[in-house]
Amino acid sequence: MQPVIPDYLTEILGDVKSDTSGEPAGYIPELAAADPERLGVAFAMVDGQVYGVGDIDVEFTIQSISKPFTYALALADRGFDPVLAKVGVEPSGEAFNEISLESNTGRPLNPMINAGAITVHSLAGAEDLNSTERVERVVHGLSAFAGRRLTMDEAVCASEMEHAHRNLAIAHMLRSHNILTEDPRAVVDGYTRQCSVLVTTRDLAMMAATLANHGVNPLSGEQVVPEPVVRQVLSVMFSCGMYDAAGDWATQVGIPAKSGVAGGLIGALPGQIGIATFSPRLDSHGNSVRGVSLFERLSSDMGLHVMEVPATASAVVRSNHVVGSGPNALRVFQLQGGIGFAGAERIVREAVDTSPAEVRVVLDLTRVHSIDDVARRVLLEVARRLTLDGHEVYLVDPESIVPNPDPGDGGRVIVVDNVDQAMIPPHRVA
Ligand code: DON
Repeated sequence: MQPVIPDYLTEILGDVKSDTSGEPAGYIPELAAADPERLGVAFAMVDGQVYGVGDIDVEFTIQSISKPFTYALALADRGFDPVLAKVGVEPSGEAFNEISLESNTGRPLNPMINAGAITVHSLAGAEDLNSTERVERVVHGLSAFAGRRLTMDEAVCASEMEHAHRNLAIAHMLRSHNILTEDPRAVVDGYTRQCSVLVTTRDLAMMAATLANHGVNPLSGEQVVPEPVVRQVLSVMFSCGMYDAAGDWATQVGIPAKSGVAGGLIGALPGQIGIATFSPRLDSHGNSVRGVSLFERLSSDMGLHVMEVPATASAVVRSNHVVGSGPNALRVFQLQGGIGFAGAERIVREAVDTSPAEVRVVLDLTRVHSIDDVARRVLLEVARRLTLDGHEVYLVDPESIVPNPDPGDGGRVIVVDNVDQAMIPPHRVA
C-alpha cells in the first residue's frame, strides 16, 4: 500500500505554495537573505515515526521557538515558584518585542514575549552558572528535546547582537525592576545565542513531539522535563504562543504553538503528534504566512483542534453481560480505552443502573490501556460499594493497570488475569 500521510502532506504543501505574501524578517541581513521559497512540513508521532515533505532537512535558526523549551528547562531546573515569581502567564495581546511588564512589579506578562523569554533565559540551569555555562545548559536542553546535538549559527548570532538595541532596552528595564539580577548585556547575549541555535523542520517536529509525549523524547526515550512542566508549557503556548494573534489561533487552529522569525512554526498536540512547518515569509505578527495556512488546513482536515475531543466516555463500557448461569454466574463489565473522570462516571452509572443480581461481579480491564488517578479511585469505590452490597468483586487486570488495588474500608477485590479465572476459585486476593 502507498503511504497515505506523505501524499496528503504533498497535497497541502502544493495548495499553499503559490502564496507569496509576507516578507522574511528584515531586521538583520542574514534573515533578510533567507530563500523565501523554502517550504516544508513534518509530523513526528509520539512513537517516533516521522513524516515529512519539502525542505525538512534545511537548517535555519530556531529564534522564538526556543522560548517554550527554555521555559521548560527553567521550570525543571529551578521549580515553578521562582520562575512564576519573575514571569507571569497572562497573554499580552501585544507584539513579541513589546515591553510588556506588570506595572507594579515589572514582571513580564508571559514567557513567550521577548521580555519574558530574556528573563527565562537567566533562570535556566542552576543559579550559580556563569553566562557560558547557562548557554551550554540551554543548548544541551534544546538538543535533548530534538534528540540530537544542535549547533549555533555564529553569523546570525553576531548580527543579532549588533541590532539588539530593543532587547537590550528590555533587559535594562528588567534589571531596573530587579527581575534580572545579572548584567543585562550578558543575559541578552545568552538569549540571542539561544535564538541562534540551528534546527531543521524535522528537529522541530521531534521537539514538539517531545512536548506531546509528556516530556519524553520519542527517539531517545529520555524524560527531558517532568510532566507538570510540559502541562505548564503547553498551556502557555496555547494562550500566548502566537503573540497578538493568539486568540485567532486558539479559535481557528486550536493547537498549542510557537513561531519564530526565521519562518519556523511548531504545534504540539498532547498524546498525539508534534508538527512543524518552515516558510520564511512572515505576516505582520511575525508568524510564517504559509506556516499559519498549513496549520489551519491541518487542524480542520484532521480534526486536531484541542477542544474537539472525541466522545471517549461513552465508549468506556464495551459490554455489560452475564457469563455462566445459576449461582456461578458472573456479571462482567468489560471496559476499554483510556479512562478519565468522565469514563469512570459512565462505569458508576452502568453499575448502578444494572444493580447486578449475580453475586460475582467482574470489572474486566483487559482492553484498558490507561486509567488516570481520579478514575482509578472511582473504580475502586465502585468495587467497595459492590462488596458492601454483598458482591464478590473481581478485577481482571493482566497488565496491572491498577497496581495494588485496595478499595479500603470494607471493600475487597480479587485480582485475576482473565475472566475464566474468576470462575475457578481460589484466587489471589488484593
Ligand atoms: O528576540 C528577537 O528579536 C529574535 N531573535 C527572536 C524573535 C522571534 O523569533 C519572534 N517570533 N516570531
